[in-house]
Amino acid sequence: MRFDISSPGFVLKENAEHKVNIKRMFNAIAPRYDLINHLLSCGVDIYWRKKAISKLNVSENSLVLDLACGSADFTIETIIEKKCSVIGVDFAQQMLICAKRKIKKKKLNSFWLLNGDGEQLPFVSRAFDGVTSAFGIRNMASIETALGEMHRILKENGQALILEFSLPAFKPFRKLYLFYFNNILPIIGKILSKDKNAYSYLPASVKKFPAVDEFVIWMKEAGFRDIQYWKLLNGIAVIYKGIKD
Ligand SMILES: C[S@@+](CC[C@H](N)C(=O)[O-])C[C@H]1O[C@@H](n2cnc3c(N)ncnc32)[C@H](O)[C@@H]1O
Repeated sequence: MRFDISSPGFVLKENAEHKVNIKRMFNAIAPRYDLINHLLSCGVDIYWRKKAISKLNVSENSLVLDLACGSADFTIETIIEKKCSVIGVDFAQQMLICAKRKIKKKKLNSFWLLNGDGEQLPFVSRAFDGVTSAFGIRNMASIETALGEMHRILKENGQALILEFSLPAFKPFRKLYLFYFNNILPIIGKILSKDKNAYSYLPASVKKFPAVDEFVIWMKEAGFRDIQYWKLLNGIAVIYKGIKD
């Protein structure tokens, strides 16, 4: 019997398997996720999130969706800085448990956490004023589908704000960074997370993620306009912002 790898069934199965693996990985590392993040980035990730949220123009009456909210650092930053209501969605239950604990500890209101798939959001169209995602979209089985969902749930002129890893532009720095990323980070990550794959997956997923110009085109194709981006630390991370057409 011949195999047809272009058949829809084949693609679906591949994506489903990716989701199972990603969900399992984040559920496993959830209790140590924040600590590892801050250690491996020397705390720079905290500054990146603050900088990204400062680019979001929403009012106190706005409703914002934080896609792939994980342990809720982006969600918390948005609630504190913008004083608006935020719904955090993630498909890893253990990450949501950490998120709930953190938000409660800070005594914040106006938030909801929901277990859901970013590629199939359980919301009606045109419901949100803003949608954010920090280091989340890279993990989706289909990034284009997730971008389509972000666009669908936004109101007209709503904003999408994405913070994601990329690779530095300056070649000598890129070489040095890739050495750290490929050789040192996976070892430290493995020791701290006790998960043998999670921090080898990180460099692999960043290398697979589209370059800045290409991702801007993907955002345009999903229906966003006036796309802006800001490179952080020579492009180790990038903030993207687009408006729903
Ligand atoms: C690297 S963490 C980022 C968490 C958080 N946004 C932050 O800034 O730290 C990626 C998150 O994406 C979530 N995720 C990956 N694919 C998803 C999907 N299809 N639907 C919902 N969440 C997803 C994972 O469960 C994980 O919590």
